[in-house]
Amino acid sequence: ADTLGSAAAAQGRYFGTAVAAGHLGEADYAATLDREFNSATPENEMKWDATEPSRGTFTFSAADRVVDHARAQGMDVRGHTLVWHSQLPSWVGALGAADLRGAMNDHINQVMGRYKGQIHSWDVVNEAFQDGDSGARRSSPFQDKLGDGYIEEAFRTARAADPAAKLCYNDYNTDGVNAKSTAVYAMVKDFKARGVPIDCVGFQGHFNSNSPVPADLRANLQRFADLGVDVQITELDIEGSGTAQADAYARVVDACLAVDRCTGITVWGVTDKYSWRSGGTPLLFDGNYDAKPAYDAVLAAL
Ligand code: XIL
Repeated sequence: ADTLGSAAAAQGRYFGTAVAAGHLGEADYAATLDREFNSATPENEMKWDATEPSRGTFTFSAADRVVDHARAQGMDVRGHTLVWHSQLPSWVGALGAADLRGAMNDHINQVMGRYKGQIHSWDVVNEAFQDGDSGARRSSPFQDKLGDGYIEEAFRTARAADPAAKLCYNDYNTDGVNAKSTAVYAMVKDFKARGVPIDCVGFQGHFNSNSPVPADLRANLQRFADLGVDVQITELDIEGSGTAQADAYARVVDACLAVDRCTGITVWGVTDKYSWRSGGTPLLFDGNYDAKPAYDAVLAAL
């Protein structure tokens, strides 16, 4: 196979990218996206601040552009994300507990309802755990006002809203075996034991010199898979260049392919020039849409 998407498909996986609606009009952007990738994640367009900037007023135009483009190309779409402390409009944080619960469930119902039947997997809850050794939940309006049960409630609401969509929990710094990933693991294990609907766990995969690709990435993916969920690398980018970057990308691909239930990899952007890591070069195509050594390494590893 000679593209990322077709090579991944030959392994029974997908290879996706974050997509920004604002760049779809750029010919080289769209051509690279359409040629190489068979899954798309709206980078910002489905987040709460984009879809429900004021209570009960929903705006889907930017998300629609990404979904329509992806589906016209036959790509799967990952929905990202429904319940997250960040890119959350201030009105949500100002609600009391009862109102907040209603607003959370309404948001899930409205956004998932809009795309019902069109989304392969949803990141239902994003980044709910703290960094560091505590294994504790992160402070957020949801955590602080609704308590631990908000995650379970969000997943139950999501299952009813679009029964065909896979429901994922997604986080960062959970790629290796550590206190944070172990806390997520305990939550997923508990959900499976109690029948709370969860189908997949996303590992963002934002790597740099402070946070390199962990040696136990495969083992960590495997322990989650052994709980009975699919696993996915959902936002991969790796700071660096040249051979070191290429080798790191290949290690991530190897880890995923070694785990039967690792169903796909998404990189967090098409080209370095639009990476959220401003000034960085963490992706597979450079600013001229030329394939980097990292691209060749991924293709070879698939
Ligand atoms: C980032 C986007 O790439 C940026 O454009 C935006 O300004 C901030 O969010 N974890 C996530 C993603 O789950 O949604 C984030 O995306 C990157 C970190």
